[in-house]
Amino acid sequence: MLEKINKIKESALREIETIKNAESLKNFEIKYLGRKSELNQILRSLSEVSEEEKRLIGPQANSLKKELEEMIEARKKVLLKKIDEFDYSLPGLIPKVGHMHPISCFMEKVEDVFVSMGFEIVSGPEIESEEYNFDLLNIPSEHPARDMWDTYYVKFPISPPTGGFAGRGQYPIKSYNSNHKSRILLRTHTSPVQLRAMETRKPPVRIIVPGRVFRHEATDAGHEKNFYQCEGFVIDRNVSLANLTSTLRIFVKRIFGEKIEIRVRPSYFPFVEPGIEVDMNCLICGGKGCSACKQSGWVEVLGAGMIHPKVLEDMSRLGKTKWNPKNYSGFAFGLGIDRFAMLYYGINDIRLFYSGDLRFVRQF
Ligand code: DAH
Repeated sequence: MLEKINKIKESALREIETIKNAESLKNFEIKYLGRKSELNQILRSLSEVSEEEKRLIGPQANSLKKELEEMIEARKKVLLKKIDEFDYSLPGLIPKVGHMHPISCFMEKVEDVFVSMGFEIVSGPEIESEEYNFDLLNIPSEHPARDMWDTYYVKFPISPPTGGFAGRGQYPIKSYNSNHKSRILLRTHTSPVQLRAMETRKPPVRIIVPGRVFRHEATDAGHEKNFYQCEGFVIDRNVSLANLTSTLRIFVKRIFGEKIEIRVRPSYFPFVEPGIEVDMNCLICGGKGCSACKQSGWVEVLGAGMIHPKVLEDMSRLGKTKWNPKNYSGFAFGLGIDRFAMLYYGINDIRLFYSGDLRFVRQF
């Protein structure tokens, strides 16, 4: 029997070390100290053995019982300590969070540059009236220049814009009333926000309008139905074309680097006079000429010009502005954010921006 007691002890000692949780500790206790345990059977059989045997085995069996109890107690403490040592401040599995879209990233860069030059950021409605998108920008309905913008007209009963738009510098459409013959459309450019900003401010103003525009385009690598522009304009006394070109030169250099130069070509937009188009050095060849820039060394990046006096005069004549247009002049420009972002990130297809393909977006 003594041998049996020793065997129980040996096996218990081996087993206790492997116990990792409360449940197996409980099972251990049942196995070694429970009613049906070997030890319990030995203890019970003591009443049936001789006095001599009892004196020999009794103390051994009882001390093993005590030892086992202590073993269990000690193991319990070890397990509890392990729980205590667990560092609850460690991060769990970090969920995958999203990040900014390349267009938004680039837009922020553009905003930063202009804000540093003292421009205010303003937004306007994406659903516009024909009056603001065209007529008041000196593009009357019979004017062939309307062909420059393939327009989505919005049919009633979609309610006309009434104000409270999301975003910074909100612009309710005040002048709209349902009798107006002006149709409702998705703005084809951010230029109408020039007018909306003028209505609630007086010069001097320096404003940029980052925003989404819509055109009925056949999509290809360079065209989308939905894209982004950033309008900019300044109205003050004695604003000149030199002010415009230097502002744009600073902008391009801040985004693409000091070495990049711009050049200016005459162009036509009905709401500016003179109108210009601005090219910058091709980023791929640095101006030497390559296939991307058709060997010219230049890529076209934006339209701009001096705000047409007719635009300022019409706004005043219709009572939409309360300051004298004769005392002021201004410049305006409109940059295609997508076009710039494609050059900046080296993307060759505008459709990738709107494809919803995560393999694309995750690269930025
Ligand atoms: N709104 C024009 C367009 O979308 C771009 C533009 C050209 C804006 C000349 C201007 C400007 O402010 O002066 O094609």
